[in-house]
Amino acid sequence: MKIIVSKSDLQGIGADLLVLPCSSAGLQHEGEKVLSPFGINPQVLKSFKAEAGEAVVVYGGSQEYSSARMMLVGTGEGKKLEDWRKAAIAIGAKAVELKSEKVAVDCSGVEALASAMGQSVATLAATLVEGSVFGSYRFDRLKSDKLDKKNQDAKSKKIAELVIVVPSGVFEEAEKGGMEGKIVGSCKKMARDLVNLPGNYLNAEDIAKAAEESGKKYGYDVKVFHKKEIESLGMGGLLAVNKGSDQPPTFTVLEYKPKGKTKSVVALVGKGVTFDSGGISIKPSENMGEMKSDMSGAASVLGAVEAAARLKLPLHVIGLIPATDNMPSGTAQQPGDVITTYSGITVEVGNTDAEGRLILADALTYGKEKYNPDVIVDVATLTGACIVALGYAVAGLFSNNDKLADEIFQAGEQSGEKVWRMPLWDLYDEQIKSDVADVSNTGGRGAGSVTAAKFLEKFIDGHTNWAHIDIAGPSFIPKSGGKANGGTGFGVGLLVELLKKWS
Ligand code: BES
Ligand code: MN
Ligand code: ZN
Repeated sequence: MKIIVSKSDLQGIGADLLVLPCSSAGLQHEGEKVLSPFGINPQVLKSFKAEAGEAVVVYGGSQEYSSARMMLVGTGEGKKLEDWRKAAIAIGAKAVELKSEKVAVDCSGVEALASAMGQSVATLAATLVEGSVFGSYRFDRLKSDKLDKKNQDAKSKKIAELVIVVPSGVFEEAEKGGMEGKIVGSCKKMARDLVNLPGNYLNAEDIAKAAEESGKKYGYDVKVFHKKEIESLGMGGLLAVNKGSDQPPTFTVLEYKPKGKTKSVVALVGKGVTFDSGGISIKPSENMGEMKSDMSGAASVLGAVEAAARLKLPLHVIGLIPATDNMPSGTAQQPGDVITTYSGITVEVGNTDAEGRLILADALTYGKEKYNPDVIVDVATLTGACIVALGYAVAGLFSNNDKLADEIFQAGEQSGEKVWRMPLWDLYDEQIKSDVADVSNTGGRGAGSVTAAKFLEKFIDGHTNWAHIDIAGPSFIPKSGGKANGGTGFGVGLLVELLKKWS
């Protein structure tokens, strides 16, 4: 999608779809004044209330605007960034539905809107672009359309051009924001594609390849450890999970280090289980296919490192991605097995379906040891229990550092990728004690997402600035009949917001 920030007149912009964002208050007080210059019949106000993300397409507007269609999109009360994001997503979704190739958005009121929201014009522009890209996303690369000719058309008709029309006084700021939104939007899209690719299209090697491609394209280093090297390193957690598989594991280390002074060293760790069958502790077959999304943490980390490189943030960012599938077979690890992780800590594998924490354990210890980072954040689809606790819209946050927890919470509010903090009290350690090994990978009934986090905490070797984000819920929206369900790219926006804060 080409993004054009324009200070020219709306008239003669010649878009397929001309979008007019409206707030509920604005419409109530001066609806006719807003609509009449566009030749829009105020009758529309009977049904359109400008709720956030509400959209109505109107035909027969004034010829001067030479747009085939106009669309009113609601920004709610016009006070919350969240509502602006909803409007942006609606713009993208509607544009795809209407097959509009050139979309123009009237942002003449962006300064007033920004100040009402306590945000910058750049942020509003970024959110508009990122939201439109997000809303227009469709995962259709595996559709041949042999059975549905109509679709062929739809596939080729994606928004080609998004024009944001702003007052000349804020042109530069809007352009800066627009470009940033485009980068974050594109990194999110990459993450969503990886999440949506099923196990037979994306294995551990493929994740490593995706990272290598990104690194090459955007100028950062990527080192891939293959099975032999993983064995020499002694990554017993990753190897144990991989034992049942016919496909080798990978451990990918991404390193973005800009020239000149960097503010801090940030390690991001992402769970890359390309398909989680549960292993010998096999999952029920219903909806098991959704477990192709068990590498969402890896996808978010890759997306965030790529974004950091493209935005040229003054930070040294390391991405660590342990990847494998989790399969049952004659060679698979068995419940009751005791394994030795990279750290030397032994683990009793009470349940082979608690595999994420085993591969993360190795990556966490490795990241801490090799890079001595100022901060470590891991992102993982770790527990069903986290979905039970917080649902599909919010991620669980666990941290041993209050300041870091607060920063991540704020980044969640700003990026729209919300997190809610959960406890890490030592009293939960009781549940993961093992009679035969140093620790058990299962904590029994109750507080499943907390005991998983307590397990991870053992592998950061006393680091005092660590956070774990359990994205099991918001990373993947199961079939809902909607068109854009599936992978969400959750984590990319949150991590980028956090990295920007530290820049
Ligand atoms: N990948 C799953 C967690 C998950 C469940 C993510 C549903 C997304 C949707 C993880 O590996 C897992 O199986 N966790 C177990 C842990 C249990 C065996 C201790 C779980 O949550 O049931
Ligand atoms: Mn599992
Ligand atoms: Zn898993």
